[in-house]
Amino acid sequence: MKVLGIETSCDETAAAVVEDGCQIISNVVASQIDIHARYGGIVPEVASRQHILTIIPVVKQAMAGISWPDINGIAVTFGPGLAGSLLVGVNVAKALALAKNLPLTSVNHLEAHIYANWLDSSSSGEKSEVRFPCLCLIVSGGHSDLVLMEGHGQFEKVGRTRDDAAGEAFDKAARILGLGYPGGPAIERAASSGTPCLPLPRAWLKDSHDFSFSGLKTALWHLVHRGGISVADAAASFQLAVVDVLVTKTIEAAKQLKVEQILLSGGVAANKALTQHFLANSPIPVLIPPPHLCTDNAAMVAACGYYHFQAGNTSGYDLDVVPSLSLG
Ligand code: KG4
Ligand code: ZN
Repeated sequence: MKVLGIETSCDETAAAVVEDGCQIISNVVASQIDIHARYGGIVPEVASRQHILTIIPVVKQAMAGISWPDINGIAVTFGPGLAGSLLVGVNVAKALALAKNLPLTSVNHLEAHIYANWLDSSSSGEKSEVRFPCLCLIVSGGHSDLVLMEGHGQFEKVGRTRDDAAGEAFDKAARILGLGYPGGPAIERAASSGTPCLPLPRAWLKDSHDFSFSGLKTALWHLVHRGGISVADAAASFQLAVVDVLVTKTIEAAKQLKVEQILLSGGVAANKALTQHFLANSPIPVLIPPPHLCTDNAAMVAACGYYHFQAGNTSGYDLDVVPSLSLG
């Protein structure tokens, strides 16, 4: 079964065709980063206008060499995200479903991030073997959630951030250090030539699986404004503080919940320090999508959509966006 996935929740316009929920036939991502970088962050009105300009060429590129009768369904992200951005993808998906007489399914962006772990990522085309129950760490620009997954479509949120999301913390820290936008890759680059020698706090919140990163951000701000520190050392110290908390708390939760595997997803899972710490410290197997499938893309939406279609979950033409949608 071939599914066309469409993703426009934030600042990437993306379309992809995935077969049987795992095999990527095409995967096109048009990033708006260059456009938003000059403002130091995403400007929602600019994002939605850019999606309108880009979505049709992106879908055409994803469909190049594939004929419409070979497509069996359309999956689209309907939340969470920016309302004006989500509307572009949802309306294009509805129009295509109507015009091509195809079933439509609506996908939660956070659920889609998790399904990046089902996509074939090795060049040998081997299928990732996900085993339930698993614990999913979703670390993106807007979310830091720990979600227990008992089966397809069965999610229970067991932890979340109480303030900043992990990606948001990276973006804010990069701004404090004058490293530009997006912050995650900029911090990772700067950290590679520094040492994590500066004292920065970790919020352990021992009685729960929740996270908190705003105190760390404030501590970094004070450190920088006191002066005399190297940006590379500050970036390395900040990165290690975030990684330390994410890795330690996720492994602790995975042991308590007795899961088979840990699944990483979301833009921050593209961070090498994070993935290396997980692989070095976890006694439980950890699945990590390749970096380009951790950040926003439509292949993960199509993979998730495949399992929705398998379960008979389809949407009507009255489908609307839900900007504040959560998972579990
Ligand atoms: O999943 P994503 O592409 O979009 C959302 O759904 O939010 O995540 C974007 C976030 C941004 O905050 C970005 O700074 C962060 O992921 N990110 C990284 C890295 N690459 C992207 N954070 C740390 N290290 C990276 N290499
Ligand atoms: Zn995302």
